[in-house]
Amino acid sequence: MENIQQDIWAQWMLKRRFGGSAEQMKTTMEHLYSVRDKVLNRTDLQNGGTLLDVGCGDGLIAFGALEKFKQCKVIFSDISQDLLDHSQGLAEEMKVLERCKFVRAAADDLSMFENESVEAVTTRSVLIYVDAKQKSFSEFYRVLKPKGILSIFEPINRFGHPESANAFWGYDVAPIVEIARRVKAVYEKIQPADDPMLNFDERDLIASTEQARFKEVHLELQAEIKSLAEDFIKLPDKLRQQKWESMLSRAGNPKIPTLEEAMRQVLTANEMEKFMAHLRPLVETGQTVQRSSVAYLWAIK
Ligand SMILES: C[S@@+](CC[C@H](N)C(=O)[O-])C[C@H]1O[C@@H](n2cnc3c(N)ncnc32)[C@H](O)[C@@H]1O
Repeated sequence: MENIQQDIWAQWMLKRRFGGSAEQMKTTMEHLYSVRDKVLNRTDLQNGGTLLDVGCGDGLIAFGALEKFKQCKVIFSDISQDLLDHSQGLAEEMKVLERCKFVRAAADDLSMFENESVEAVTTRSVLIYVDAKQKSFSEFYRVLKPKGILSIFEPINRFGHPESANAFWGYDVAPIVEIARRVKAVYEKIQPADDPMLNFDERDLIASTEQARFKEVHLELQAEIKSLAEDFIKLPDKLRQQKWESMLSRAGNPKIPTLEEAMRQVLTANEMEKFMAHLRPLVETGQTVQRSSVAYLWAIK
């Protein structure tokens, strides 16, 4: 049978973000359910109405809305036809198909939707892939009905960038700095500082929302600088090993290679061995300082 490869978005959403680890999938999804709930708590479709989920992926927010608001309708929209097909299959299984529409659309071009046609617009980790962010906010505003609600979540990746030369994803790589620099360069080449992933922060989100003419704008920022070592001490050996395996085989986003793939691109077998021999014990004992920041923004038209 012909093996039809899915697009990069579907490959990543359905597989590569978990690196083949059930444990990783569980941890990721637990975290994402709390994000989903916060995004949906800002919307109000108790009495029905339509929610447009832009960049719906495999339906985290969209299915959450169908569950939370029993009378609402949901438009699943995404640039990935594979993910729309996947979500449509799930909706069929869940017997909620008649409350759903599936529309291929980019965040910055929602021209297939009429002005003032939906009660709520949501996104979760979508604008980090969109160059034309201002245009997207203007589109969100245009399709919303008066008093309609926009509720989004986006990581503020600039918060952790750039890292010092001696650090690799928060781990101290001073003794192997040259090898680490070459692996880092693989990622920096694909997503440099002016990539949509890194070229904005929470102030830009507020400014774009205001510029799009939303009347009321709120933003909640969560920023964290955190050492993992204390939490890792309590973990059983097997779970620590899994942390390493998952670090090797997971891709941080759809456009970049896994760590193992990146190493293979630029290191010799000998260098790979050196790099892993240094990094693995640090990963397994959580010797990293993680810097992360995320923003929840909600606005009323
Ligand atoms: C990190 S996933 C998030 C998926 C989903 N919102 C969730 O919360 O799980 C990013 C999604 O954005 C979609 N995407 C990427 N670029 C886009 C664009 N320009 N317009 C709309 N969707 C886009 C991808 O196909 C992918 O489904």
